[in-house]
Amino acid sequence: MQKDFTVTPWEVKGKINYDKLIKEFGLEALKNLPKVFNDLLLMRRNIVFAHRDFNRIVGCIQNKKQFVMMTGLMPSGKFHFGHKVVADQIIFYQELGAKIYLAVADIEAYNSRNPNMQELRKIAIEEYLLNYMALGLNIKKCDFYFQSARSKQAEKSNSYYRLANMLARHATFNEYKSIYGEISPGKMISSLIQASDMLHPQLPEFEGPIPVLVPVGADQDPHLRLARDLSQRIKEFKFIQLSSTYNKFLPALNGDKMSSSDPTSYIALTDSPEEASNKIKKYAFSGGQPTIEEHKKKGGNPDIDSSFQLLKYGLEENDKKLEDIYNDYKSGSLLTSELKQIVIEKLEKFLIQHQKKRGIAKKQIDKLI
Ligand code: TRP
Repeated sequence: MQKDFTVTPWEVKGKINYDKLIKEFGLEALKNLPKVFNDLLLMRRNIVFAHRDFNRIVGCIQNKKQFVMMTGLMPSGKFHFGHKVVADQIIFYQELGAKIYLAVADIEAYNSRNPNMQELRKIAIEEYLLNYMALGLNIKKCDFYFQSARSKQAEKSNSYYRLANMLARHATFNEYKSIYGEISPGKMISSLIQASDMLHPQLPEFEGPIPVLVPVGADQDPHLRLARDLSQRIKEFKFIQLSSTYNKFLPALNGDKMSSSDPTSYIALTDSPEEASNKIKKYAFSGGQPTIEEHKKKGGNPDIDSSFQLLKYGLEENDKKLEDIYNDYKSGSLLTSELKQIVIEKLEKFLIQHQKKRGIAKKQIDKLI
């Protein structure tokens, strides 16, 4: 089978066919969800599109039983609208009453991207934590930790690292090769620590056996497959099988490849309104036609238009308005310049408010740390 896209934890590229991905990874499509999930725009719009064992979490919510939501972030560069997709879900589950565990994957980043632990720490706090808080995360009701420093309490910390190391016994090299393709010592360590990230909330030093939901980008599924398998093989612990949901990726602004080293490929939540507006005007990939006449005749393609995608991923919260914009653009009555203007106005409003909240979060953090 010829493939025109790649989705692995180490690389995401090409035009992703998410239906194919569901088949290839063996995921379930996310549908027929209870009403509470209508409040999460990302689920309504099928941006969170697939899952494993999510029914267990739905059951917890319906029966008012506790569950943990655990996820992690790699501190690499600016926090942009692509990262916001996971942040929005974390906050949604916190508001639903889930216990929140949040890992900063600094060990993983050290092994794969940036061997400067101090800088990673700074990025994690200034880029990720502050933006999470400004988006609405209550940091006091959240177990936020670094992979390199799990806990000041020795029993807790020991048990997290013990688990990561003991899981190694239950994996084989061939399994690694078939799940990950190419593999290196650094990647192997990252996957074992990530398995411990996802499983350790169930250790006796933490919550004990409890359902854990891991919302992630679709590229993380190989890590979940491994952790799920290992969790059932290790006999010393009784783990309830992990649940997970998968989100699609916000396409790169410039229609190329999303990369933290290329600021024209994203809009950061710390971009000034002017910077953001410039990026939209100059770089946002357009699904419109080359000339106005042609656009009015043939119409544009909102599905590949970066500006429209920003609206869809959250800037336009009203479904009806989003649909109208979609149809008007497709019919050609809405021009590219007009669509961009809508996005610019939304962005400016959002960024000004968000950056105000970031300022407030910063004061809170300075007190906490
Ligand atoms: N590997 C993830 C990433 O690249 C980060 C991560 C680390 C993570 N530990 C995790 C994600 C646990 C989910 C759960 O972004």
